[in-house]
Amino acid sequence: MRRPLVAANWKMHKNLKEAVAYTRQFAPLVANLSEVDVVLAPPFLALPALVDTLKREGHTRIQVAAQHSHAERHGAFTGEVSLGMLRASGVKLVLVGHSERRRLFHETDTGINEKTRAAIAEGIIPIVCVGETLEERESNKTFEVLKRQIRLGLAGLSPDQVAAIIVAYEPVWAIGTGHVATPKQANTVHTRLRQQLSAQFSLEAAQACRIIYGGSVKPSNAAELMTEPDIDGALVGGASLEPASFAEIVLASQQKTIEDV
Ligand code: PGA
Repeated sequence: MRRPLVAANWKMHKNLKEAVAYTRQFAPLVANLSEVDVVLAPPFLALPALVDTLKREGHTRIQVAAQHSHAERHGAFTGEVSLGMLRASGVKLVLVGHSERRRLFHETDTGINEKTRAAIAEGIIPIVCVGETLEERESNKTFEVLKRQIRLGLAGLSPDQVAAIIVAYEPVWAIGTGHVATPKQANTVHTRLRQQLSAQFSLEAAQACRIIYGGSVKPSNAAELMTEPDIDGALVGGASLEPASFAEIVLASQQKTIEDV
């Protein structure tokens, strides 16, 4: 059985003090939820402080992720942060190819592939984000787009590597809009993504790889999304900014493991 994973993507929210205060409040709320992997992705400046706070207060099951990285190890890349630097600060995962990065910062499938491979080489788990725009969905291009993003984004990975990464399906039209995909709509896509992983890598890799859903996940819709068999967790933006709201979403994912037993 795949272990659910729920990640908070704070985007460009929370300064250092706010991030630490949130973490102190949030961690005890999920301390007993041992069946779910919980991840916090704050802005860069808060990463080491969150790692330290969680360690000091004994919440070792909550992992910290970066929202972005550069693929190169070091060099003249003003403003960038390398995966080695992230690892040295205790960061365990990294978001790659979020639609905001693709759209606003012109990230390409090839660049996403470089980062994904660099993260794996550095021992950091990539959460590779894919998703279609509204226009692509309405012109029946959803699967074509997703297939391309997976084919190019994960090119060159071994089946074992694919088994260990996270794929996040985030329809662009659902991010920050309040228009969540219906559980059936999302599950249909997740199933197709898994078929693609199976064809491109192996059945075992496809069955092991966790595919999480993102796009307007809230406490009110999380439980229903989690009942779908191919949805292995959530990537949460807006609703992760309040500790109680994010904890409720984690709890909804824990229900998934209880019901599956
Ligand atoms: P949202 O963002 O939950 O605010 O829609 C999700 C994301 O961008 O990862």
